[in-house]
Amino acid sequence: MSPVIRIAPSILSADFARLGEEVDAIAEAGADWVHIDVMDGHFVPNLTIGPGVVKALRPHTDLPFDVHLMIAPADPFLEAFAEAGADIISLHPEAGPHLHRSLQTIKGLGKKAGVVLNPATPIAAVEPVIEDVDLILVMTVNPGFGGQKFIETQLGKIESLRKLIDRTGKEIDLEVDGGVDQDTAPRVIAAGANVLVAGTATFKGGPSKYASNIKALRG
Ligand code: DX5
Ligand code: ZN
Repeated sequence: MSPVIRIAPSILSADFARLGEEVDAIAEAGADWVHIDVMDGHFVPNLTIGPGVVKALRPHTDLPFDVHLMIAPADPFLEAFAEAGADIISLHPEAGPHLHRSLQTIKGLGKKAGVVLNPATPIAAVEPVIEDVDLILVMTVNPGFGGQKFIETQLGKIESLRKLIDRTGKEIDLEVDGGVDQDTAPRVIAAGANVLVAGTATFKGGPSKYASNIKALRG
């Protein structure tokens, strides 16, 4: 049976002056999750959203908030994002010295915990903690900006992770982030991903196009 594919629009590509309305619009257009990119200008060369914005968006939808932390250290902010309304909190192994402890902290806050692998980060970085994660996010661009080109070499990593996840027998989501569009989405799905992040591909053309953009990504 083929898995259910979930689409997680990245609001990094939304109109920041109308962020609440943009979240309403993607929810109405059939998004499954809301992907929120948090950047600190240090771990990645860009600055974006803090817990205050997550809190302000929370009343707009019941869709899961998928919070992608590109900050280091991440530990001091986990509680704030959990309280702001995150449902899933993902962090990069490079963001701190104790990945297992960070994952336990997220779970202790009652949230789902994810690990994010940069294009140059090996699968081995998540393998020792795979029993402790709810989600693995594979970056198919270098994190920091929307609208970058999909890095083809990551397809093999997605395939290997799908096998690894299936061997655990656990329900672990395999999410892909970066350069996902109508052309790359079918390949990402064929490689074994079940959650697709899409910024540019969701928000292109404005609100009247969101529903057809999202539908086109489901394959
Ligand atoms: C990049 C972010 C992505 C980004 C994706 O650091 O993690 O979520 O917004 O944007 P697109 O879909 O435009 O590649
Ligand atoms: Zn992201």
